[in-house]
Amino acid sequence: MHIHVDETLGLFHLQSKDSSYIIQLVEGYPAHVYWGAQLHHDSNLASILEFRERSSFSPNPVPSDRSISLDTLPQEYPQYGTSDFRQPAYQLILEDGSRITELKYAGYRIASGKPKLEGLPAVYTESDDEAATLYLILEDKYSGLQVTLLYTVFANHSVIARSAMIENKGSAAMTLEQALSASVDFADANYHALYLSGAWVRERHVQRRELGPGAIRLESRRGSSSHQMNPFLALLRPDATEDHGDVYGFSLVYSGSFIAQAEVEQFSQTRVSIGINPFDFSWQLEPGQSFQTPEAVMVYSGEGIGGMSRTYHRLYRTRLCRGVYRDKERPILVNNWEATYFNFDADKIEAIAKEAGPLGIELFVLDDGWFGKRDNDDSSLGDWFEDRRKLPGGLADLAKRVNKQGLQFGLWVEPEMISPNSELYRKHPDWCLHAEGRRRTEARSQLVLDLSRKEVCDYLYDTLSAVFSSAPITYVKWDMNRNMTEIASAAAPALRQKETAHRYMLGLYDLMDRLTSRFPDILFESCSGGGGRFDPGMLYYMPQTWTSDDTDAIERLAIQYGTSIVYPASSMGAHVSSVPNHQVGRMTSLAIRGDVAMSGNFGYELDLTAFTKEEKELAASQIAQYKEIRSLVQQGDMYRLLSPFEGRGDTAWMFVSADRSEAFVAYFRVLAEPNGPIRRLTLRGLDPQLKYKIETGVTGNSLAGDTASPFSLAFGGEAFGGDRLMNIGLTVSDLKGDFASITFRLKGLPAE
Ligand code: DGJ
Repeated sequence: MHIHVDETLGLFHLQSKDSSYIIQLVEGYPAHVYWGAQLHHDSNLASILEFRERSSFSPNPVPSDRSISLDTLPQEYPQYGTSDFRQPAYQLILEDGSRITELKYAGYRIASGKPKLEGLPAVYTESDDEAATLYLILEDKYSGLQVTLLYTVFANHSVIARSAMIENKGSAAMTLEQALSASVDFADANYHALYLSGAWVRERHVQRRELGPGAIRLESRRGSSSHQMNPFLALLRPDATEDHGDVYGFSLVYSGSFIAQAEVEQFSQTRVSIGINPFDFSWQLEPGQSFQTPEAVMVYSGEGIGGMSRTYHRLYRTRLCRGVYRDKERPILVNNWEATYFNFDADKIEAIAKEAGPLGIELFVLDDGWFGKRDNDDSSLGDWFEDRRKLPGGLADLAKRVNKQGLQFGLWVEPEMISPNSELYRKHPDWCLHAEGRRRTEARSQLVLDLSRKEVCDYLYDTLSAVFSSAPITYVKWDMNRNMTEIASAAAPALRQKETAHRYMLGLYDLMDRLTSRFPDILFESCSGGGGRFDPGMLYYMPQTWTSDDTDAIERLAIQYGTSIVYPASSMGAHVSSVPNHQVGRMTSLAIRGDVAMSGNFGYELDLTAFTKEEKELAASQIAQYKEIRSLVQQGDMYRLLSPFEGRGDTAWMFVSADRSEAFVAYFRVLAEPNGPIRRLTLRGLDPQLKYKIETGVTGNSLAGDTASPFSLAFGGEAFGGDRLMNIGLTVSDLKGDFASITFRLKGLPAE
C-alpha cells in the first residue's frame, strides 16, 4: 500500500494491495488514468491518456487546444454544464440560479489511516498502518464551492474506498441537486455488468448483461436500499468467470435510495457512477456548511468474481462490521415467527424453548406480536410495551423462563414504523412521513415514522432503551416492513423537504449508533421483510441481516448464492422452516433444509413441539454438525463452485479456513437427472501440497422421516491431495432424487 505523488507530472499513483489507481491533472482537471492490476511506480506512467481532436460537438475548455475536451476526458468527479455531456458526479444551483461550476485542482493532502465519515457508516481501520488516504482538493473559483475527494487504499485488501466532501466556502447559499460518491471512467466498453436484483422473497438474484451504447441504470427510489436492487454493480471482462479474469466491484455503504450506473458513450468509454439517488434529492448548503457523501467501496480482482467476493467478505467481516460479535461465533437460534405468527402466549414460547434446549439450540427469539394489542398486523407499532394478555409476567418473566431452558433470550422490534391504530399515533399524528392534507398511504397497515426529526429519534432511543433493559435480552431483530411514500417532514421548511429521505437515513444511523453503543453485548440483526435492506450501511451497525422471508431451501440456494456475491456468510441469517414451505408450498427434506441453512447463521423457525422423535434426532445432529463447522462458515473464505443460475440449478460452495487446513463443502442437486453425464465437483481454495481426509456429513433426500440417507458416497472417509481435489474433483453423479444434498468436511493431514 502506498500513495505516490509526482507533482511535476501532476500524477497520483495509489497502490492498494494487488491494485493500482492512477489520477493525473490535465489543465487542472483531475483525470482518471488507470485502475487495475498493481503497477510499479517506475513503469513510466506519464503518457497513458490519449488526446485527439474530435469535432465541434465535443467542445474545448482551452480554446487553443482542440485535443482536450471534457466530453471525452476520463474524469474523477465530472461536472455538468461546461461540456461534459455524460452523467455528472454532482449538480448544484447557485443563488443566482446558475448551475455552472468548474472544479479544478487546488491541492492535496495524504494521511495515514482512514478518517471517520461524519454521521455515516463506513469501512474503518484499527491502526493507521492498515491504510492511507489521499485528500484531493478541488475548487470552483467563482462560487466558493470546494470538493474534497477522499481515496483510501489498504495494505491488506485490494480496495479503494471513495467519497466526496462538498463544502460551501462562499458567501451565498447553494443547493446541491446531486452528490454522488464516486465516478470512474473506463477506457473501453468491453465489459459485462453484474448486479443483484429481485423482489420480496426473491432477493439478490445474479444478473449479468453485456454493456452497449447507452446506460444501464440500477436504482432504488423506495427510501431504502430495497429488495428490488442491491446497491452494488460490477464490471467484468466478457471472459471473466468465477475464478478468472478482471472484475471491478462498486458497493455503496448506504441504506437509502441509490443509483449505480454504467454509461457507454460515443467513443466506447464507460462511466460508472454510484451514490445517493439524485431523484427527489436536494440539499441546502449555507455558507460554511458541508455535505459528506456515503462511501463507495471499490474492489479490483484479477481472480474473477470469486476473488472480488472474497475481498468484500474479508473487508466487510473485519473492517465494516463492529462490536463484540464481529469476531465471535453467532448463536444458533430458534425463532417463533413461522411457528406461531401472532398466536402465542408465554406457555407456548416456553414449550418451544423446552424442546430447543436439549437439541443444542442457544438462543430463543420472540418475534412480532408481543407488544400493544397486536393480534395481527394492523395495529400497535409504536406501542413498545408488553401485551400482558399474552405475557402475564412481561418480558422479564418470559426471558427468565427461556433462560431456565438453557437458552438466551432475543426480541423482535420494528422501531421505524407506526400503526395508525396505536397509542403513539393518537398522541403524535404528525410524527410520520406525510404531505400535509393528503392521503397517508398505508402498507401492511403501517406508516413510516419521520426519523429526520430529532425528537422522534430521541423518543425511540428512550423507549427502546427501556425495553432492552427490562429483561436479559442478548439479541435484537430490527425489522422494517415497508418503503417510503409521501416523503415529507412536518418539521422541515419548504426548501429542505427534498432532504427528508437522506435526513431520515442520518437519523436512523445516529439512533442505531446510540443504541448499539449503549447495548454493546446485544447481537443486533437487521431485517426488512427479509432482505429489503441487506446493505453495507446496515452491517456497520448490525453485523447480520435476515437474508430473506423466503425460507424454502431451494429458493434459498439462489438467494444465498446471490447475496454472497458481496456479503459474507456471517452476515446472512438462514433458518430451517417447516414443510410445505410457507412461501412457495414446496416439500423438501429436513436434511437439505439443514444443509442450506448451515451455510449462514444457522437457526430454526418452526414449531419444535411438533417435531417427531426422528426429526428431533436429525435436528440435534445438524446442530452438532453446525457447531463443528460454525467458525469455518462464519470466518472462513467462501468459494462458490456451482451456480444455481446456470444449467439445471445445481449449486455448490465451500468454506476454507484461513490457513487452508480445513474446509466445509456443500453440494445441492436440485432435480434428479435421468441417465445423466458423470458429474465431478472440483474444489477450490485448498492447499495443493496438503492431503485432506474427507468426512461425509448428513445427507439425504427422503421426504418421509429423513432418518436414512438413500445414497452413500464412494469417497467417505478417504484422503486425497488438495491438488487432486481442485483439478480432478469428486464424483457426485450417483445422487438420486430431487432436492438432494451432500455436505462434508475436509481436514488437512499432518505432512508425513
Ligand atoms: C418480516 C420479517 O422478515 C419476518 O421474519 C417477521 O419478523 C415478520 N416481519 C414479523 O412481522
